[in-house]
Amino acid sequence: MTGPLSARPRCDATAAWAALQGHWQAHGRSLDLREAFARDPARFQTFGVQAPEVFADLSKNLIDTATLQFLLDLARECGLENHRDAMLRGEAVNTTEGRAVLHTALRAPTGAATPFNAEVQGVLAAMLAYAERVRADEHITDIVNIGIGGSDLGAQMVVPALDAFSRRGKRLHFVSNVDGHDITPVLRGLDARRTLFIVASKTFTTQETMANAAVARAWFIEQGGTDIARHFAATTTNVAAAAQFGISTTFGFWDWVGGRYSLWSAIGLPIAIAVGADNFRALLAGAHAMDRHFAEAPLAHNLPVLLGLLDVWYRNFHGFASRSVAPYHQGLARLPAYLQQLEMESNGKRVDLQGRPLPLGTSPVVWGEPGTNGQHAYFQMLHQGTEVVPVEFIAVKTPSHPHTDLHTKLLANCLAQSQALMMGKTAAEAEAEQAPTAAAGMAPAVLASHRSFPGNRPSTTLLLQALTPHSLGALIAMYEHRVFTSGSVWGINSFDQWGVELGKALCSQLLPRFASGDASGLDASTAGLLARLRTETGPRA
Ligand code: F6P
Repeated sequence: MTGPLSARPRCDATAAWAALQGHWQAHGRSLDLREAFARDPARFQTFGVQAPEVFADLSKNLIDTATLQFLLDLARECGLENHRDAMLRGEAVNTTEGRAVLHTALRAPTGAATPFNAEVQGVLAAMLAYAERVRADEHITDIVNIGIGGSDLGAQMVVPALDAFSRRGKRLHFVSNVDGHDITPVLRGLDARRTLFIVASKTFTTQETMANAAVARAWFIEQGGTDIARHFAATTTNVAAAAQFGISTTFGFWDWVGGRYSLWSAIGLPIAIAVGADNFRALLAGAHAMDRHFAEAPLAHNLPVLLGLLDVWYRNFHGFASRSVAPYHQGLARLPAYLQQLEMESNGKRVDLQGRPLPLGTSPVVWGEPGTNGQHAYFQMLHQGTEVVPVEFIAVKTPSHPHTDLHTKLLANCLAQSQALMMGKTAAEAEAEQAPTAAAGMAPAVLASHRSFPGNRPSTTLLLQALTPHSLGALIAMYEHRVFTSGSVWGINSFDQWGVELGKALCSQLLPRFASGDASGLDASTAGLLARLRTETGPRA
């Protein structure tokens, strides 16, 4: 293997890791946030980081300035800066696939000295011109994006997030699942003459997408549709396969765009149709501003770097296995799902770039729901459960609706949650408080144990001035670079996804068995389930 990470030791064999471990033993593991705030009135200022469009309050995290220094030393010793620069230059940092990783080149402005700038600008201009034609075409009222994973989640997340910027009169639909319960209700509500299908697939071979595209084409023809050229478009690197499928309107991209990093490419066509060319360019510009920050800001003030290092601190030293993301903006409802793919498909790896098994945790489980809904569901566990889950709150100062009273309540809830996680409530406080309402027959101390909160639970609050194409672009790029940072420290390849292959291969072996019933060579569980699905409860193939 060649490249900037080729010669480095495993992350846990570095001197910086040993130093961090010493710090963890001496101070890190016993840091108490309430005491830290009491000791240092400037803690909010010290741990506030301003990046393009995103302000991060890191002060409610289990860190002090020494922790950050040790983490930054670790990043340096692990070669983060060299690795980042190699990625930005277009070196093949995706070593297992022998590919460059250049989603940053997709959002560089025209004429920038970034790799492939002319090709990128050419496809972008063509894609945006097409999006504008669709927007102006009053006959087209419904746009159905058929794609899965990175060919679905980005657009599915961004389109509702930018609802305030969307053209009215165009309905965007997203079909991803090979489960027919996904496409069936969508088709039920459509008029073939007024519908555009976008088949989005980097490879144009993904089973789910190809199957749904075939259903859509058959439905279109059945409805009397003839003009496939006008009603189907494809976004793909495999233009030949799209043509074979019968699609002539195609927007391409390149193998150096990873699926989960592809919303900036032609895969963003549904976004461009929803919000228009200027807003799509603003989304790219916001991401580019964050790219510059990641490339140029000193590590100590570099927001994606600091967030990625916090992930390492929590995962490998505190042992926190998950992170919850709570966007206090309904438009970001799909952000946790988007981040699940971005983070867990990127960093859910168990060997480093040289194939050495990692004896430590990598990607945390990422999950969440918009606030305030989550508060009335799983926040109970965050406050009083046995696991500590760092929470990431995202708040937007200015709403795009006129209901200021609702918005103030939303923001107050957001601040109250991070405050409650940190402050907690002692048993003595709970006991003092419960006296008048103590349940009959329960000793006050027992009831107080139920009503107390441990506190000292960490959180980060990210603030945006407003949710705009520019700020959303910056926010998403921040997450991408954060994933790069922790992946780089762990020394893993954040850009392949071999873990999805085995299931795909076994699925193609199982598929014909639904018709034949042949269970030879199968384990008893799979054979038993297959038999029940064929004969008792399920449809035959
Ligand atoms: O699930 C694996 C995966 O390759 C993802 O990485 C990708 O985003 C998704 O499938 C869809 O792939 P394609 O765009 O080639 O259809």
